[in-house]
Amino acid sequence: MAHLFSPLKIKSIEFKNRIIVSPMCEYSSEDGFANDWHLVHLGSRAIGGAALVITEATAVSAEGRISPGDLGIWKDEHIEKLKQITDFIHQYGSVAGIQLAHAGRKASHEVPWKGGAQIASNKENGWRSLAPSAMPFTASEEAPIELDKQGIEKIKADFKAAAERALKAGFKVIELHGAHGYLIHEFYSPLSNHRTDEYGGSFENRIRLLLEVTESVKEVWPDEYPLFVRISSTDWTEGGWTADDSSALAKILKDKGIDLVDCSSGGNVATAKIPLKPGYQVEFAEKLRKETGILTGAVGLITEPEQADEIIKSGQADVVLLAREFLRDPYFPLRAAHQLGQEVKWPSQYERAKW
Ligand SMILES: Cc1cc2nc3c(=O)[nH]c(=O)nc-3n(C[C@H](O)[C@H](O)[C@H](O)COP(=O)(O)O)c2cc1C
Repeated sequence: MAHLFSPLKIKSIEFKNRIIVSPMCEYSSEDGFANDWHLVHLGSRAIGGAALVITEATAVSAEGRISPGDLGIWKDEHIEKLKQITDFIHQYGSVAGIQLAHAGRKASHEVPWKGGAQIASNKENGWRSLAPSAMPFTASEEAPIELDKQGIEKIKADFKAAAERALKAGFKVIELHGAHGYLIHEFYSPLSNHRTDEYGGSFENRIRLLLEVTESVKEVWPDEYPLFVRISSTDWTEGGWTADDSSALAKILKDKGIDLVDCSSGGNVATAKIPLKPGYQVEFAEKLRKETGILTGAVGLITEPEQADEIIKSGQADVVLLAREFLRDPYFPLRAAHQLGQEVKWPSQYERAKW
């Protein structure tokens, strides 16, 4: 059997293979609501054979959105449409996961196809962003408000309430978004966190928010369902967060009951030079897996079935997450199975197209 198609059980959940749809912002919501775009976008990738389909960064509060078009889960009314989507995904043999997110200082931006610029808080559809320190992402942007203790408590409560709603909406996996320069990453990176209280300074203090968010989510998230964290494994910047920091963090996350670390990188420094090449972040998944024994996910420029299979076979990671390749081809897993000589069940409706 191709290693890519070996099943994986995490807690009570069986994943039929190692291929995951990586979270991808669609910026297609109004007031945070999912709609038919999300049903078709996520549903077609479930039909395409992915073991786990993770929603885009889903905002735990309105002010935690990157853009006014972000998907959200900050009110009960959001649950109904999400439930329809998770039911569909489960009906076709995949598992529905949700990425819970707060954009921190990268909130209040235009959607990419409108240029992606910050929307100033005094402009229509804009709001003031929140962060560990009052430092903007780039010099030309309006500075965020530094979160006070009460604000931090609200963040934790928002993640917890979002996790409760995610459960009601039928999700079976939560991924906490701790990467790409959004709020949780802003706290653990020394480049964006200049606080002097117990949430800043030392490594222990900077990772505190992530650990406390994990604890509050675990208060409501069933023990038998997996809980993942996506991190930026390095800031790719002198003086920033490093792969060794990630390894130290992963050990602690494992003890806190996190099941899998999804190893991305970057996003907190606009000028960081990232050495893009096929599988450029796989080394981080491999390092964390070997040094801590936690399950890891590899992501980033994984586009070929043989490449993905080799990552699993060689023990570099336990799962692979693909983003852009899934936009090119929602049926990537069916194609990968064919290329790797693996027999898999096709949706009955599509069987006549089977290679
Ligand atoms: C359209 C698009 C939207 C994305 N949105 C998110 C997101 O919501 N959350 C996240 O963690 N990463 C997001 N990413 C990053 C991807 O999940 C992935 O980590 C990255 O694209 C590298 O994988 P790839 O080379 O397979 O595309 C996004 C990427 C794309 C292309």
